[in-house]
Amino acid sequence: MNVLLIGSGGRENALAWKLSQSPLLTKLFIAPGNAGTSTFGENIRLNISTFDEIKLFVLNNHINLVLVGPEQPLVDGIHDFFLSDTDLKNIPVIGPQKAGAMLEGSKDFAKHFMIKHNIPTAKYQSFSKDRLNEGFAFLETLKAPFVLKADGLAAGKGVIILDDLNEAKETLKEMLNGKFGQASSKVVIEEFLKGIELSVFALTDGKSYKILPEAKDYKRIGEGDAGLNTGGMGAVSPVPFADKIFMKKIEDKIIIPTIVGLQKDKINYKGFIFFGLIKVDNEPFVIEYNVRLGDPETEVVVPRIKSDLLELLIHAGKGTLNQSILEIDSRAVSTIMLVSGGYPGEYENGKKISNLNLVIDSLLFHAGTKTENSEIVTNGGRVLAITSYGKTIFDALEKSLKNAKIIEFSGKYFRKDIGFDLK
Ligand code: AMP
Ligand code: GLY
Repeated sequence: MNVLLIGSGGRENALAWKLSQSPLLTKLFIAPGNAGTSTFGENIRLNISTFDEIKLFVLNNHINLVLVGPEQPLVDGIHDFFLSDTDLKNIPVIGPQKAGAMLEGSKDFAKHFMIKHNIPTAKYQSFSKDRLNEGFAFLETLKAPFVLKADGLAAGKGVIILDDLNEAKETLKEMLNGKFGQASSKVVIEEFLKGIELSVFALTDGKSYKILPEAKDYKRIGEGDAGLNTGGMGAVSPVPFADKIFMKKIEDKIIIPTIVGLQKDKINYKGFIFFGLIKVDNEPFVIEYNVRLGDPETEVVVPRIKSDLLELLIHAGKGTLNQSILEIDSRAVSTIMLVSGGYPGEYENGKKISNLNLVIDSLLFHAGTKTENSEIVTNGGRVLAITSYGKTIFDALEKSLKNAKIIEFSGKYFRKDIGFDLK
């Protein structure tokens, strides 16, 4: 079968690597992809926000399945677009329709969903501009730190955590006045949860589900989890503190109620659900839902899937996931992200990347790269994910670290302490 994979990051490179190993695959297309994905399929220049362009490509190239990597096309309704088109409606799209994508597209919707279905999450209230004073009053009932979240998608920047009450009030006002544009016309204020975070992923056909390996990502730019938030500087899987008993709690208290909740609310959901969780006193709470796989978590989760991922996706599309088997590799996997100097602030693109051919013992998943005059150059803040297998996450990290030092480009930066808190 022919598959169209939408996206251009390290996540999509890891997915392309895995899908290309499937005996069920005839041809893989990646739109738009990067220099790494072109090893596993054909990159195509498509404007992924123009669904008519996607339609033309899908029909002309006899695409049999579409896998959507990032959230934006899902929130914009790509799946609904396929279902409402007579020529496209029988082509499965992996990724929820708009209604399900609201779990990520609106924090207020997600919080409401969790409370309604009794899924553990931080206490919250939502406010729009006409209720600013009530927002101030709610902040006064909470203890510091104060967590303010833009309701809509804000490119991962919409969460602000502040220690000072007056600053929190000021920030609430700024957010409601358009700090994040339309995305912060509503703001969720919630109780701060103190604990350790992890990411858990499930693939669902709307009825049954498969739990993928869990992962922990490292979002801050600096060592010791200091400095600005990034898209993610590294990840490990498995997560040592997520033992069998804790994972069972996650399944019983969070995953099952989420799937059942979607059914009760008549939200037909086919795709991945990403549970951003925090462990507080040995209990799991949901920090956020995402309606896609995480990045860089995918770069450690997908290499641990032993089964044919394409076969699993086909089952998810057909609604027969209960007939499939998910086998997990018992080895540990870690990834270290090489980023451009200056990231997550301003940085320059177009830096020549060298020594890629000297890498041994690791998989390279490109994130922000492109081919220019037959050379691979940087093309984004996050440039390359260096993924390795090991007996433990620390063995794996050692291999990634060795290769992180070998690969060169001007301004290269990476964290040497991924996994530091798990030792
Ligand atoms: P989000 O975009 O919702 O994942 O939030 C970004 C980050 O903010 C999370 O990964 C957490 O580290 C932190 N965060 C969000 N909500 C809370 C909360 N209620 N308590 C503590 N930390 C939080
Ligand atoms: N690594 C977190 C995310 O993909 O949003």
